[in-house]
Amino acid sequence: MTEAPQTSGTTPAFAPRVFSGIQPSGGLTLGNYLGALKRFVEKQDEGVETIYCLVDLHAITVWQEPAKLRHATREAAAGFLAAGIDPARSILFNQSQVPAHAELAWIFNCVARMGWLSRMTQFKDKAGKNRENASVGLFAYPNLMAADILAYHATHVPVGEDQKQHLELTRDIAIKFNHDYGIEFFPIVEPVIEGAATRVMSLRDGTKKMSKSDPSDMSRINLTDDADAIAQKIRKARTDPDPLPEALDGLSERPEARNLVNIYAALADISPAAVLQDFAGQGFGAFKPALADLAVEKLRPINSEMARLMDDPAEIDRTLGGGAERAEAIARPIVERCFEITGMIRSRG
Ligand code: AMP
Ligand code: TRP
Repeated sequence: MTEAPQTSGTTPAFAPRVFSGIQPSGGLTLGNYLGALKRFVEKQDEGVETIYCLVDLHAITVWQEPAKLRHATREAAAGFLAAGIDPARSILFNQSQVPAHAELAWIFNCVARMGWLSRMTQFKDKAGKNRENASVGLFAYPNLMAADILAYHATHVPVGEDQKQHLELTRDIAIKFNHDYGIEFFPIVEPVIEGAATRVMSLRDGTKKMSKSDPSDMSRINLTDDADAIAQKIRKARTDPDPLPEALDGLSERPEARNLVNIYAALADISPAAVLQDFAGQGFGAFKPALADLAVEKLRPINSEMARLMDDPAEIDRTLGGGAERAEAIARPIVERCFEITGMIRSRG
């Protein structure tokens, strides 16, 4: 299976194919939903080929209790399905069931440079002060992410803002591989960072990303939260005493207010400016209940469908297994060809 060389000009050498992943290292948050999942569903519904992966190999770069990892993987799969991913139209699977990811990651460990990885801010944040004690996997994590994407010759990767640097690294790896081996084998991927909520912030601190690993549960909305919990978290979200402004530049110094406006916009599928048109002059006493109602209205169906799906974990596992077989069928020939390009003998019957 040889690829047509990538040409400059108008004919793209690679068919459009979307790939993205989420770590099953805890529950899914509203940040994951708005920054990633909701947009994964939109891509699927546009009719492009879409491949979505629960990246369990990435999750173990920090310690995971095995039983919790299994549960979180199923729950994340349930979240994808409940949010509208259709396993007949998209490929949905967990990473460790397709060996091509780990194989290609090794090749990329030998392509990427120490200096490139040393600049990754996610590693610096996650390793913190105790870098000597971070796993080697945490350092090499972006190479595995590049492998996830490039094992499928994916061209477009929808992610939240925080993944931009990793996608630049993916492009650098593809460029260096193609250059070193003198073949246009890997596509140069396009990050797709779109919408009002590419960076949903913590409800307790508008300068910090909403994260499944924040110690305070009040900082985030989980997709498993019930209506009362959602309403309470929004009611208690940190804000300021001023009314909402007429225009967006009035939010530039008000990170908490801006965050809630962006969340409203993303949930309602309107622009942040349109939210301000409706709420300008009103304080949070009026805005928060409206936001809570909207969040409950949009998240409740997902929440109840997730609970229903989680009643039958064997069915979820079957869906992931079926997705993994389809994923394997795409990735296997690409990784085989990559081994050949690098000079590995492939002579098994
Ligand atoms: P993670 O949970 O770190 O595996 O992230 C999975 C996807 O969700 C990635 O595309 C992230 O960029 C996105 N994501 C995670 N947290 C947020 C957030 N607070 N705002 C927007 N997108 C997010
Ligand atoms: N690194 C991503 C995150 O933490 C998850 C991820 C792994 C990913 N592999 C990927 C995202 C491939 C997009 C494409 O959010």
